[in-house]
Amino acid sequence: MAKPVYLLNGPNLNLLGNRQPEIYGRITLDDLRLQSARHAKTLELEIEFRQSNSEGTLVDWIQEARDKASGIIINAAAYSHTSLALLDALQASDLPVIELHLSNIYARESFRHHSHISQAANGVICGFGADGYNLALSAMARLLES
Ligand code: DQA
Repeated sequence: MAKPVYLLNGPNLNLLGNRQPEIYGRITLDDLRLQSARHAKTLELEIEFRQSNSEGTLVDWIQEARDKASGIIINAAAYSHTSLALLDALQASDLPVIELHLSNIYARESFRHHSHISQAANGVICGFGADGYNLALSAMARLLES
């Protein structure tokens, strides 16, 4: 059986729906989970959709993905801008990686303009809101085909 794509979500994304809806929209994490599962099905991909507020847990999941996943899509949220540990884990994963953000981080505060984890990513999708999750899955399907 094909290995799943790990779709990992970082801190505060559990608050989607209530958190700054003018930036992140009204969609909840559960909506994103369902939407992603539906889109993955059309692409014939299995997904493992998770969220944690803890940097260490995200590192553990990326390490787990090395053996158990075919690729990683990650919205590391604020850890994108701060975490060398996530960069190291992603670089060690030897898997295709797509970095994802709901908002356009380049149109926001300057401290969001740099992401440490971009260095480990095949590509970055940001600014398309919830659609970005579907775009990332489609892009991952293409990466896995090639
Ligand atoms: C985010 C953007 C980050 O800068 C922010 O810290 C988040 C969410 C996004 O999806 O737009 O928590 O990753």
